[in-house]
Amino acid sequence: MDDTPLHRQYRHYSELPYSVRVLYTATLLILGTAYLFAGIYLFHSYSGKDGNPITLSYDDIVIAYSGSGEGSRLEAALRGSMSAMLPRDELNSLVSWVQDGGERARYEQEVRSVFDQRCMACHDGSNPHLPNLNGYDNVQKVTERDTGTGLFTLVRVSHIHFFGLAFVFFILGSIFSHAYVRPVWLKCTAVAFPFVALTLDIGSWYFTKLYHPFAWVVMIGGALMGLSFVYMWVVSMYQMWFSRPPSVVTGREGGEATHVG
Ligand code: HEC
Repeated sequence: MDDTPLHRQYRHYSELPYSVRVLYTATLLILGTAYLFAGIYLFHSYSGKDGNPITLSYDDIVIAYSGSGEGSRLEAALRGSMSAMLPRDELNSLVSWVQDGGERARYEQEVRSVFDQRCMACHDGSNPHLPNLNGYDNVQKVTERDTGTGLFTLVRVSHIHFFGLAFVFFILGSIFSHAYVRPVWLKCTAVAFPFVALTLDIGSWYFTKLYHPFAWVVMIGGALMGLSFVYMWVVSMYQMWFSRPPSVVTGREGGEATHVG
């Protein structure tokens, strides 16, 4: 067993005043609850992307960040429920226009008249439940290919996660630093680990756009971050209230748990 001596400034939970231990416990309880809610939210928003809402899978992550790669809503509608709304040759010209990128110039020349003639009866914007197809700017909303979460949205979500989780793991790591864990390198690794996992996780959101298998890194990074959260949480709680303080702590000079504050 590794018996690296205690650092002069190390304090085990049993040496901390009760008020501090109560504060730590309340903080751990709230952080644990928050993590649980975050998990539920994450599962709810991503698990159904691939059509199967039961599991959070590799495909869910790929679709969320990189898009399904399938055609636009307009193309899907033209091939599906809207196919009866216009003659075949007009339908083909709409589809080829969307597939070629849905440019404005060609829209004005040949496509607009088809929309106006065949679609305006229902899609002129007066029914809030149907996509408005009146004019290029409105049509554009249904011609975009599904390319997943936009880059700017990722930037927004990244900075929120970096700030937020840095706080969470700073607080959790500070509480955990009072646990007695040997070898010391294991304890240091446990403290640093979530920061590495967080960086891998968030970084891979972007890389998944370029190369799909990075979705595995997103999943593994997220899972490892969750595991280190659970590890530090359980060890802290257990040593704070349930286990006897280690003998190196009770035996050191002035180390008796005599302070009650
Ligand atoms: C008679 C009314 C009517 C006409 C005409 C019509 N639509 Fe629709 N459209 C609907 C209704 C109702 C829905 C919603 C239900 C559905 O998706 O089938 C819809 C839905 C859509 C959607 C959304 C599908 C989705 O992803 O939810 C698109 C895109 C669309 N229509 C395109 C068109 C185009 C293009 C035309 C003209 C070629 C057209 N529609 C003509 C009634 C109409």
